[in-house]
Amino acid sequence: MDSNVRNAYLEALGIDRWVPRDAPPESAVVLPESARTNAPRARAPVADTPAPKLPVAPVVRAPVVAAGDWGALREQVAACTACELCKTRTQTVFGVGNTRADWLVIGEAPGAEEDRQGEPFVGRAGQLLNAMLLAIGLPRETVFIANILKCRPPGNRDPKPEEVSRCLPYLSAQIALLKPKIMLAVGRIAAQNLLATDAPLARLRGKLHHFGEANTPLVITYHPAYLLRTPSDKRKAWEDLKFARATYARAAGTN
Ligand code: URA
Repeated sequence: MDSNVRNAYLEALGIDRWVPRDAPPESAVVLPESARTNAPRARAPVADTPAPKLPVAPVVRAPVVAAGDWGALREQVAACTACELCKTRTQTVFGVGNTRADWLVIGEAPGAEEDRQGEPFVGRAGQLLNAMLLAIGLPRETVFIANILKCRPPGNRDPKPEEVSRCLPYLSAQIALLKPKIMLAVGRIAAQNLLATDAPLARLRGKLHHFGEANTPLVITYHPAYLLRTPSDKRKAWEDLKFARATYARAAGTN
C-alpha cells in the first residue's frame, strides 16, 4: 500500500506516524479450542454429595442450519424467527464482503443504521472500522464482515445469552463456508462469545487465540465504537492490528 495512503488512514485513526517498533506482543499463547456456545459446562457428579440445586438453563432452540451455500444461508437468516429480536428488527443484517476473503471481521450486533440499511458497520463506528482495516492494507470490500447477532437489539442493549445461542449457528455456518485464514473480533461481546469466556477484553487482546475445528487464528481488538469514545486506546488497537497483520502473514505463508 502506498505509504501516503496508509499515513492518511493512520491519521484518521488518530495515531502518530512515529510508532516505535513493529514487534508483535510478547506473550502470545495458544488457547484451547473455543466452545461455540456459552452454555454452562456439565460437572461430573460427586459420590454421596447431595446434588446442588442449579438454576435451570432456559431451553434454547437454536435454528438448524443446513445451508450449503451462501444464498441459502442468506435466505434462512432473512426468514429467522428464532428469538424475540425478529419482532423489532427492520431487517436482518447477514454480513457483507468478499465471500472468498481470507479475513473475517466479527462485531457484536447491528445498530440503528445497520438495521435500516441491512449492512454491518455502516455508521460512525463502521467508518472507523474501515479506516482501521485500510491502515493494515485491507480495503473493506476485500474482507468479510459479520456480527454475532444478525438482528438489532432494541436500544443497542447488550445481546442476551439466549439470543446469542440462537444466532451463533448462523455465524458458524458463515465460518464453515468462508474458511477464513484469520478472524478479527472487535469488542468485548464478540470476543467473549467466540471464546466462551467472561474474561475482560483487556485480558483477551494482545495474544493469539484459535477458533473452532480449523484452529483458525483469532485476534481480538477494541470495538471501533469504544475507540470513538476512548481515543486514548487507539494506539493499543493499532498494536492489535499490526499483530493481526503479522499473524495473517504467517498463516498465509506470505512473510
Ligand atoms: N457495531 C457492531 O458491532 N456491528 C455493527 O454492525 C455495527 C455496530
